[in-house]
Amino acid sequence: MPREVFAAIQAGRFSALRQELAATLPSSLSRLVLEIGCGNGHFLTAYAATHPDRFCVGVDLRLERIEKALRKRDRAGLANLHFIRCEARAFLRALPAGVQLLEVYMLFPDPWPKKRHHKNRLLKPEFLTEIATRAGQGSRLFFRTDYQPYYDDAAGIIAAHPQWRLLPSSPFPFEHQTIFQSRAETFHSLGAIHESSPVQANKLQPDE
Ligand SMILES: C[S@@+](CC[C@H](N)C(=O)[O-])C[C@H]1O[C@@H](n2cnc3c(N)ncnc32)[C@H](O)[C@@H]1O
Repeated sequence: MPREVFAAIQAGRFSALRQELAATLPSSLSRLVLEIGCGNGHFLTAYAATHPDRFCVGVDLRLERIEKALRKRDRAGLANLHFIRCEARAFLRALPAGVQLLEVYMLFPDPWPKKRHHKNRLLKPEFLTEIATRAGQGSRLFFRTDYQPYYDDAAGIIAAHPQWRLLPSSPFPFEHQTIFQSRAETFHSLGAIHESSPVQANKLQPDE
């Protein structure tokens, strides 16, 4: 396919995503809870049911998973929950200005175990920076995987990132088993907090 045709298709999809977000997110919305790679929506449906005051959005690339998640949402009658089929970075870019991420969940993201495929992993420094552009002071990121090398890698990437600080042994604020979690023998979790002014934080004296 010629490059300009591909670019036009991509631009059209992005514009459709922007329109979908403008049409589905409440106009007064200032903060939302995002689940990246939400699969069939088990976790976020349970989360939204117990947090009726929070608007939640789940994104996933796979249409059939999003359709299942939407059916789950409708059966539960939840007005504070939406699922969208889209790529996570496209979502972050299409999100209306002024909407911040309160919490972000990445639960059992594709581990891409082969070294030559590591570049496909979602949790990378650039991605953390993209999430940070839509985060506020104190926004939190929660990551869980059953693949220890991805966990180790993610912990190192977050620890080295200037806008995120690892929260040691931080329990998840909410628990509900996902499909991949139910298949995992064991898993590892981490939490991180967004720090929008790391330079200022470093200026604090030890006794402050
Ligand atoms: C291993 S599954 C985990 C699904 C679910 N979180 C669970 O624990 O059962 C990973 C999911 O992430 C989705 N995914 C992968 N890359 C993505 C991306 N860049 N943007 C949005 N979703 C993505 C996949 O389609 C898949 O449904």
